[in-house]
Amino acid sequence: MSRSRLGTCAIAIALAFGVGFDEPAAAQPAPTASAEKVVPLFDRQTKLEPATVEDTPAALVTRVADRVRDRHAREAQFHIYDHYLPLYWEKRTVTIEIVDRVAKGGDSVTFNITSLAPLNKPNLRAFFEGKGTVAQYSANLTTTEVDPLHYTATLKTNTNERRPIKLGDRIEIEFSPFLKPPVEGRTNYYGTALLYVVGQPGVAPWEGRGARLDSFPMPDVALSGGLTTSHQQYSNEPKERFKQLATNAAPTSGQPFMLGRRLHHTDFGTGAHSERGNPVYKEQTDKLGARFNERSCVGCHINNGRALPPAVGAPLQRYVIRVGSDAKGTPHPKLGATLQTQALKGAPEASVSIASWTTIDGTYGDGTAYTLQKPNYKFTGVVPEFYSVRIAPQLVGQGLLEAMSEDDIAKLADAKDAIPGRTSTVADPETRQSRLGRFGWKAGMPRLKHQIANALNNDMGVVTSVFPNPDRGSEQADPGAPGKLADADLDNLYRYVATLGVPPRRNFADEDVVKSEKLFAKANCAQCHTPVMKTGPYHPLAELRNQTIRPYTDLRLHDMGKGLADNMADGPATGAEWRTAPLWGIGLTPGVSGGEAYLHDGRARTLNEAILWHGGAGEKAKEAFRTMPAADRAALIKFLQSL
Ligand code: HEC
Ligand code: HEC
Repeated sequence: MSRSRLGTCAIAIALAFGVGFDEPAAAQPAPTASAEKVVPLFDRQTKLEPATVEDTPAALVTRVADRVRDRHAREAQFHIYDHYLPLYWEKRTVTIEIVDRVAKGGDSVTFNITSLAPLNKPNLRAFFEGKGTVAQYSANLTTTEVDPLHYTATLKTNTNERRPIKLGDRIEIEFSPFLKPPVEGRTNYYGTALLYVVGQPGVAPWEGRGARLDSFPMPDVALSGGLTTSHQQYSNEPKERFKQLATNAAPTSGQPFMLGRRLHHTDFGTGAHSERGNPVYKEQTDKLGARFNERSCVGCHINNGRALPPAVGAPLQRYVIRVGSDAKGTPHPKLGATLQTQALKGAPEASVSIASWTTIDGTYGDGTAYTLQKPNYKFTGVVPEFYSVRIAPQLVGQGLLEAMSEDDIAKLADAKDAIPGRTSTVADPETRQSRLGRFGWKAGMPRLKHQIANALNNDMGVVTSVFPNPDRGSEQADPGAPGKLADADLDNLYRYVATLGVPPRRNFADEDVVKSEKLFAKANCAQCHTPVMKTGPYHPLAELRNQTIRPYTDLRLHDMGKGLADNMADGPATGAEWRTAPLWGIGLTPGVSGGEAYLHDGRARTLNEAILWHGGAGEKAKEAFRTMPAADRAALIKFLQSL
């Protein structure tokens, strides 16, 4: 039995005797015995937000939130569709209600729009035709004003085919909010190209087909995030792929998403927004704690993607460095549970950089050579003996991971050929109940809100009602009164991260890609990187419930062997245990992050290297990959790039 395993047992026993429960909420939940039954996050009693689809005797009704856009969906040349315009959080979201009477034998489809501010003869385009321009629709309607915040338009004719609308008709719409002056900033906008199929509930994530890229519902295999999945992205903006509002966003999510996005992009010191043209967020200035790592969420999660390791010798800022005074991960007396590498005043508690990379040579089964590299760290100031260095991961699909039911995850272990692994059990920092750990490279956090509050606390020194005390060691000076984020702001940040749409798969019909899905299963990858899951029925957010998703994770911890191990346990996870990393969106990494770096510390420069580092429970899968014919290896990588 390894040292770190002993450590976990010791903590579990201590907790069984009730030690540690009256401590103030630390920024990391205390581990609990993993055999203990976890309390589900959501159940029958959970208050649900209204469903986005309502089936009434007279009509099938779909409701969806939308936001403003610069130009149209298919205009790759302008590359100005997917990004956000200045002041996107002010009066610039709408709700679109689609009342489909054709579904119930009627003859019309009505679009009711609710805005946050008065609009000026807003325009609704319907039935994409793409004649002459990629933005041409055959129906161009000026909506009727019901009152200054409500607009409506009704269609009876399929204007592409000049006949009455019938079941199965594809109606692509684009709503243009024209804000009535006076309003700060730009007034006229376009909206998202949304596809509604008559008689079918909800709006469909679409792909363009044919020369005009006419919209058709994407096949299920491309819908990585279920109906949250973005439509196929044609803009020339690779950095924007992980920043989209879920396609099925509920009316209750649209505006909070934008408010949360603003916080996500705000420097908690200066209040500056990371994107040009946006004013300082005065209410959020001077919240940065005395000790911190980065000043904003996007400062670490580059474009909501993963961070890349800095050059040798440069400080690690886009990382979380967990530290301990022993192999069990007991917080360090001088550093607390996490190292903060920056300080508002004076010297930071310590600083850490990559001193060098150790290279490790290997060969594929066919004799082709490869080289792996492993970081060596250098600490200055307080030097911890026990630590775990983790780089900022990508942020898509987090709400869906939260919506997966505990039972469904537990069942994955019952498969006949299940690979050794276990679920992470952690204490809920608010209720102290045993929960399934889901978030972070070691599945240390049970709830998305907790993960975000933890980031605010440990990474930026901003406290919340979840974690009211800043991270510090028992021998460390009191950093003074910390900045506090209001609960309403934390809720908006949560809503933002939870309802980011997952990007759709690309290239999924490619022959190699289809073939290598089988290779992925045959090499045992799929036993940890679970291709398909269904989210549970009890998540409060409508867009996250009952979604068939393709996360490529089982959310379980696996011993990945010595090569990937830290010398310290963290929560219930030993140094060698890591949560199966979700693979959705991973193929977009180069465009989103501006480079590639995989695994918990960003050591892998390519997807090949990421696989070649798999050891322990992943050893057999790694060997299957290493010994594949070169063409199969290439096909498998192509498959990962299509996710
Ligand atoms: C100092 C860099 C840094 C900052 C600032 C930061 N994060 Fe993170 N974030 C990380 C790292 C590193 C991890 C992985 C942590 C772990 O493994 O324990 C992470 C994990 C996460 C996760 C879990 C992802 C997953 O797949 O489980 C979410 C969600 C998240 N961060 C959201 C945020 C939000 C929202 C903010 C702003 C309030 C934020 N982060 C600020 C570095 C950062
Ligand atoms: C025993 C479970 C297990 C098996 C089997 C497995 N993986 Fe993994 N995989 C993991 C874990 C755990 C991680 C995260 C490890 C880390 O960050 O240190 C991971 C990480 C990855 C990553 C990097 C993800 C990221 O976000 O950086 C890729 C790519 C990957 N695996 C692909 C594969 C492929 C391809 C196979 C089959 C050849 C495979 N894995 C088999 C558990 C597994």
